[in-house]
Amino acid sequence: MNIPIARTALTEAEINSVLAPLQSGWLVQGPQVRAFEDAWSGFTGAEHSVAVTSCTTALHLSLAALGFGRGDEAIVPALTWISTANVVEHLGGTVKFCDIDPVTFNMDMDLAASLVGPKTRAILPVHLFGLPVNMSAVDALAQKHELLVVEDAACGFGSRIDGRHVGSYGNPGCFSFHPRKAITTGEGGMVTVNNSELANKVRRLRDHGAAVSDLQRHLGARPYLLADHPDAGYNQRMTDFQAALGCAQMKRAAAIVAERQRLAAVYDEAFADLEWFRTPAHIQGMENGYQSYPCMFRPAHQTAETIAIINAERNAWMDDLLRNGISTRPATHAVHMLTFYREKYGLQPEDMPNAWAANDCSISLPLFHGMTEAEQAHVIKHVRAGPS
Ligand SMILES: Cc1ncc(COP(=O)(O)O)c(C=O)c1O
Repeated sequence: MNIPIARTALTEAEINSVLAPLQSGWLVQGPQVRAFEDAWSGFTGAEHSVAVTSCTTALHLSLAALGFGRGDEAIVPALTWISTANVVEHLGGTVKFCDIDPVTFNMDMDLAASLVGPKTRAILPVHLFGLPVNMSAVDALAQKHELLVVEDAACGFGSRIDGRHVGSYGNPGCFSFHPRKAITTGEGGMVTVNNSELANKVRRLRDHGAAVSDLQRHLGARPYLLADHPDAGYNQRMTDFQAALGCAQMKRAAAIVAERQRLAAVYDEAFADLEWFRTPAHIQGMENGYQSYPCMFRPAHQTAETIAIINAERNAWMDDLLRNGISTRPATHAVHMLTFYREKYGLQPEDMPNAWAANDCSISLPLFHGMTEAEQAHVIKHVRAGPS
């Protein structure tokens, strides 16, 4: 058996959906992009959705549209994909890393409150691996200190708080369509916003700052006249064939989320009695879309003195699992330990101890649409057996 950490499972109809835009002759940010945005708004409940080239560009454009820039500081969780921090750097800002809650893997909001200083302008909560952040705490902190909030919902497809989809309650939400995510367009991203002025600003910034998109211009009167450019924007437009692929998958969006949740529930039950293996947290009112299934190895024994030992044991176990045909991964990286941030800000792993532990002792298990019962049983058998 050879079980990958994730597998893209597109139907024949989804694969074929890319042909129509290629045959139509309109390849970039046309009717399919508009339809994908509408489908996304329909599913998430957001008022506006703006398709872009990745979640990274979604984060970048959202912060830029809100006026975040040089000299501003942003609070970013230490455990996240590096680009949550990189976009702050790209805009000339400073990153203030916040440690995580070891049980949820999400930003520790008490700690975040203690990090707000005179230059803090923004906070970027990350709904990591699909488990929503406590947004009431984020919004209360933001209101108290007049902070801009941009939600990194790269992993947040199907993630809801009290029934409401992440990225739909006011702050810009940024989603990813990278193949490790539940809906994929290869590369791709989406910004969700409820404020039409901000949505229009993001639309302009993704399209060289143009006041009117090419499609609007071509469909309107006097298509030969060029648009004005009120902003010096970027080129972060999605192609129509990517959007067609996204639209086709959105037809089974609810089923995709339900299947991931079903697979996660099977794992939850299978490992519930293992003291040395902690599965993803369940928090009242929070619905997890399970972008992945991150677990902690030996959570009760992690201290500054033992992390290296547990890390070595985890890595040897991951090798064992791979020999048995099971791909696993560390949940993600602790960004403050990566060379650029470690050197620029003079950080040590122990400055954010929970992110450090997650970096070194976490293990994500295979979870993907179409995973068979036999595949999951094989993973469960070998994980339960533990390291040799
Ligand atoms: C938390 C988080 N933020 C941002 C990103 C970046 O997404 P993209 O690859 O679409 O730029 C990812 C992708 O893995 C992610 O997991």
